[in-house]
Amino acid sequence: MADETITITDNRSGERFDIPIVDGGIAASSWRKALPDVLFFDPGYLSTAACESAITYLDGEEGILRYRGYPIEQLAERSTYLEVAYLLLNGELPTPAQNESWLHDITYHTFIHENVRKRFLEGFHYDAHPMGMLVSAVAALSTFYLDAKEIHDPESRQKQIVRLIAKMPTLAAAAHRFSVGMPFVYPDNSLSFPANFLSMMWKVAEPRFDAHPALVRALDVLFILHADHEQNCSTTAMRTVGSAHADPYSACAAAAAALYGPRHGGANEAVIRMLHDIGSLENVPAFIAGVKQGRGRLQGFGHRVYKSYDPRAAIVKKVAGEVFEVTGKNPFLDIALKLEEEALSDDYFVSRRLYPNVDFYSGLIYQAMGFPIEMFPVLFAIPRTAGWMAHWVELLEQDAKIARPRQLYVGADQRQYVPIDQR
Ligand code: CMC
Repeated sequence: MADETITITDNRSGERFDIPIVDGGIAASSWRKALPDVLFFDPGYLSTAACESAITYLDGEEGILRYRGYPIEQLAERSTYLEVAYLLLNGELPTPAQNESWLHDITYHTFIHENVRKRFLEGFHYDAHPMGMLVSAVAALSTFYLDAKEIHDPESRQKQIVRLIAKMPTLAAAAHRFSVGMPFVYPDNSLSFPANFLSMMWKVAEPRFDAHPALVRALDVLFILHADHEQNCSTTAMRTVGSAHADPYSACAAAAAALYGPRHGGANEAVIRMLHDIGSLENVPAFIAGVKQGRGRLQGFGHRVYKSYDPRAAIVKKVAGEVFEVTGKNPFLDIALKLEEEALSDDYFVSRRLYPNVDFYSGLIYQAMGFPIEMFPVLFAIPRTAGWMAHWVELLEQDAKIARPRQLYVGADQRQYVPIDQR
């Protein structure tokens, strides 16, 4: 077997060091022992593994995504979001008894404190973005559950996990209802997780809101696909804030804030705005030409890790067909298909290995289901909460050090203070 080490020669001194390769990485601490004065410079963590994790496996070259070893395609076909959440958190699929108790716990923690809604959410300006409301409301929950600070107590941790996963749809729907001036809808414990969310979103005066089963299933599949994605920007925010031993609500709010950005969870919103701006099929070539000249990006394309088709995008494309059979076709679909066709046969995108990512088609589905585009990142945050929580628990169980990167200082040398009247 080949020697699993890397040899570094310090040409300043001629010294040589052998550093072992473990699980495809080299420990920066071994490097540091050999060369304490030389730091790794890796803005954006392009080549840095910031932790060990047993949750999600991702091979960007081959387009593979697995949660706890299970292929995403099988989970999307046969599982449910809540079962996947349990899997991510516990490492194994639940037994029937574990599943029953998990579903019961989630179902009975969907209500939010009246003050969260009445005093807090309703205090926002009438046109507040629902994602901004969600980020703030999640942070505010830490003030309602003081036991959340007991992060080293597994029982308390489990309580906060259940609360966060269960209350996220309630907060999300409440933010939407407020932003459109509709009364709040209380959770209906007789409905499944996705069906209950749709009820809280759309119910008007009927005693019980039953969404179309195909739409309930489509939403559940989208929730499965968005449940985790290893060390993405928001999960890194969760781990960073979590490493300071902040309570899970504060850390989760930080993660949701990262997800709000258009380069991350805001991309599906950006896709719809882009399709709207393109307007019609004949404008597609000019738009592509503009992107190639540096005038904006093809939203929903490209990924830091996937350098072939994002496996989630293939599933989303299929789900889109099923949803459109119920809702009618999203008029932007043809523009999206044309964009994909043009981009995948254009050397600019091919040579940079830019393929559709999960956000390219998900926005079309959400829009066809009636969600306003401001809700798209919120729809991402609901299921990603399971992933954030799984990483948070893993981090605490690993007793991880506080995240504290170093820097290469490139500023001014020491200089003397100049009083204001002499500047
Ligand atoms: N359209 C046009 N050109 C692109 C795009 C795009 N969508 N993405 C990357 N490029 C080009 C970029 O200009 C650069 O070209 P050059 O080498 O000539 O300078 C090259 O490809 C590499 O791009 P990069 O910005 O260095 O790549 P990155 O890994 O830092 O960025 C990304 C990844 C996802 C932020 C980026 O591809 C992007 O902005 N995509 C559009 C936004 C989007 O769809 N985001 C959702 C990501 S998936 C969901 C999630 O994880 O949240």
